[in-house]
Amino acid sequence: MSLGIDPNSYANYHEVVVTNLEPNLTVDFNRKLLYGYTDITAITKHSNVAYLDLDIRGLAVESVQNLDEKVTSHSYLNFTIPRNHSIGAQLRVPLPTDKQNEGDKVHIRVNYSTSELSGGIQWFEPNQTAGKKHPFMYTQFQAILARTMIPCQDTPAVKQPYTMSVTVADPLVAACSGAEHCKPVKDESKGTIKYVFHQPVPIPSYLIALAVGALKRESIGPRSFVWCEQEQLEAAKDEFSQTECFLKAAEDICGMEYKWGTYDLLVLPGAFPYGGMENPNLTFISASLITGNKELTDVIAHEITHSWSGNLVTNSSWPDFWLNEGFTMYIERLILMKVAEQNEKGTGMKVRDFQACLGYGELTSAVRSLQSTPELTKLAPDMRGIDPDDAFSRIPYEKGCLLLLYLEHLVGGVQPMIDWLRKYFVEFQRQSITNKQMIHHFEQHFPNVKVDWNTWLYEEGMGPWNPMSYLDQTMNKQTQALVDKWTVDGANDIDANASDIKWDPAQTMVFLDNLANGGKKLGHDVIKKLDEVYEFSKSKNVEISVRFLRLALENEYVDVLPVVEDFVSKHGRSVYLKPLYGELILLSDKKLVDKQKVKDIYQKNRSYYHSVIRNAFDAKLAH
Ligand code: BES
Ligand code: ZN
Repeated sequence: MSLGIDPNSYANYHEVVVTNLEPNLTVDFNRKLLYGYTDITAITKHSNVAYLDLDIRGLAVESVQNLDEKVTSHSYLNFTIPRNHSIGAQLRVPLPTDKQNEGDKVHIRVNYSTSELSGGIQWFEPNQTAGKKHPFMYTQFQAILARTMIPCQDTPAVKQPYTMSVTVADPLVAACSGAEHCKPVKDESKGTIKYVFHQPVPIPSYLIALAVGALKRESIGPRSFVWCEQEQLEAAKDEFSQTECFLKAAEDICGMEYKWGTYDLLVLPGAFPYGGMENPNLTFISASLITGNKELTDVIAHEITHSWSGNLVTNSSWPDFWLNEGFTMYIERLILMKVAEQNEKGTGMKVRDFQACLGYGELTSAVRSLQSTPELTKLAPDMRGIDPDDAFSRIPYEKGCLLLLYLEHLVGGVQPMIDWLRKYFVEFQRQSITNKQMIHHFEQHFPNVKVDWNTWLYEEGMGPWNPMSYLDQTMNKQTQALVDKWTVDGANDIDANASDIKWDPAQTMVFLDNLANGGKKLGHDVIKKLDEVYEFSKSKNVEISVRFLRLALENEYVDVLPVVEDFVSKHGRSVYLKPLYGELILLSDKKLVDKQKVKDIYQKNRSYYHSVIRNAFDAKLAH
């Protein structure tokens, strides 16, 4: 296990490390909290360790017991909370005096309940669900929100198996990021059901996950189910039917079988702040991925990839986050390449390279929007005192993927990269690793390849290499031709019709990105015509609508405001809301939109948004 210091945790995992977590919690929808206890096993790493320091946030801790003693007044340990910062507090538990030698096993129980400050848990009233009858809740722990439900060493440097018991009101169904451990037990007198889940593979705390609601499930492959409310079941089943095909492609590329047994998907309300979250055995996805035509299923390929990069080989701290996401983007695009090739011979590389062009556009947009915080455009930023969720952007994804593409170009193509990646997964599986370890492994494998790692990791901006001349330009040229057609002075001269964009939807995304990133302001007549001809505001593909809306706002086309208002009331995804609210704020600074109007839009949706979104915007937009 890596011993780098995690700037976002108070845990003393260098001294005593948690080896097992067993939360036993009851879900109380009326009070919107969970209560119960978590049993923790830890092992001391050297002698004279006086405390076990855990991360907590928003937890009301009642007591801590030493489980190795019979319950007496002595078996309670006098915990303290010596440090308390906005991103978390330190729960300090004195180790029993007989547990201070190297290798001693400590076994404690923390009794507590969560609170409204438990930002890792989102609650929905029945009227916010598809079925409107039952409440719903789910957890989202990445990056540092596990501590808001479970006292733990909330750093990705520490990995442990877990067993979670959850008691819910009958007939609600619980699901966790692990397999069902035993049959659910009904208590007729209390009207409750107790579920127990177990994840045997050691995982970082951010991968622990729970959802409770009126969930149904349906098989979508030999090792996969989709979970959602009855109302969405048919559509979800169709949309995600390629899951097994992505799993097989991922196994082939990573050179290692899928190690987690089953791979299920759980559909969450559009308020979910991400497209997908790779909780082991049970990827959480946003309902917004259901478009009716499988246009956004690349997110599934992405989350499946995390079964290797992220969940088996894990970044040891959040400044190393690109090891999770950059590797995942790179491999996700290889999966899309493989699947395209299977569908139509000769198209694989073209599709992969175009996906990489799309990524380069995303990187350009991300660098542009981070102008005021350039530290965050570094691949390995300084995160001391920063909440990683506030630092979240596409930089680690796309600059990370760009670095791997650059390495591919240096080592002579995709196949040598795949050969290296396979060894990398074997070497580091079940571990948490740092940038240094990855670099060392690469250099051992390719001793003659020289890379300026410092520039890549620690310099701001786009990175020292432009991939365009390396990438196949077939699809990009088609896109560029349409961009050229639209970057003229008046809309009247543009001869366009809907069939222009009867192509890969990724081409429409790049088209819109390039119109935005080209630096040329577009006239309002041009934007209006764009929407009339291609009907972007009506698109079911959220990746397309958000790009159009952003482009319109950037060009001060305020007529689009009602569409933006509708969009932000349905989709809580962070990468969409950040640019849209960001643009609305800029427009209100320029007095083109009434500031109060922007605040009203935000206020109307605030209770629907996840805590990470509220944290990002409250200071600017809450009344
Ligand atoms: N693990 C991430 C989501 C995440 C990252 C949550 C950091 C919290 C903190 C997930 O795998 C992801 O990358 N989702 C993307 C998918 C996209 C790149 C295909 C998303 O939701 O935008
Ligand atoms: Zn990811």
